[in-house]
Amino acid sequence: MEPKIIDGKAISAAVKEEVRAEVDRLKTAGREVTLAVVLVGDDPASAVYVRNKKKACEAVGIRSLSYEMPADTTQEKLLTCIAELNGRDDVDGILVQLPLPAGIDEQAVIRAIAPEKDVDGFHPVNVGLLAIGMPRVVSCTPAGVIEMLVRSGISIEGREALIIGRSNIVGKPLAHLMLQHNATVTVAHSRTADLPAVAKRADILVAAIGRPRMIGPEYVKEGAVVIDVGINRDTATGKLCGDVDYDAVAPHVSAITPVPGGVGPMTIAMLMKNCVELSKMR
Ligand code: GUN
Repeated sequence: MEPKIIDGKAISAAVKEEVRAEVDRLKTAGREVTLAVVLVGDDPASAVYVRNKKKACEAVGIRSLSYEMPADTTQEKLLTCIAELNGRDDVDGILVQLPLPAGIDEQAVIRAIAPEKDVDGFHPVNVGLLAIGMPRVVSCTPAGVIEMLVRSGISIEGREALIIGRSNIVGKPLAHLMLQHNATVTVAHSRTADLPAVAKRADILVAAIGRPRMIGPEYVKEGAVVIDVGINRDTATGKLCGDVDYDAVAPHVSAITPVPGGVGPMTIAMLMKNCVELSKMR
């Protein structure tokens, strides 16, 4: 059977359209939604991500402020910048693009962002609120995964969900969100014994590993839903590819996300949505 291809581009466009309407409504009420984007150093991938985030802001009518700092910026200087943004009444959200250059303590920087301006949902207060089932702002990629499942009419409740990858940005928050949607949740990682056997149990399999095309049919139950969070550069062809071997896996699944055009666009749409939510909460 042909699988349903979950169209992240179309779903993210719908989310952004809703955000745009809300931004307009707030503007009419005299409130300009504003995101401060901080980029330290010259990591080329980070520069691309930041550029795309600023473009998305423009598309939905969110004002973006750009802070670009050299790679040798001290932690103190960065913390001063964040403190200033925390104090500004016209700034709703603060995003510090990760990774930060060596020598800067990432956790210290995340903790310096006021939780009520933490658009990424990385602050321990926001992580804790999610963990106790009272989410406020949630990390954008996992929020995007849930949004695309829900909008595709894929039920989560009562199903076996396997998340491969335990990062603070994706795997762990997604596990909490899946729990909140009443899935039975397993988190697998590099030390999981017999991953193919564990993965074969999953009704919903999420790959957030960072290894090109690692997940082949031997990991996938017939008729499962497969969500590919990976964005990798294929070393042979130079093209983008996911953590899932799409061509080999697709014939066995009921639904699957492509790369590109799957989870990627959802992440930015959810970032825009988080900005508006923060603005409304303040
Ligand atoms: N680096 C990789 N993903 C992210 C993200 O979602 N937010 C930020 N700030 N940096 C990242």
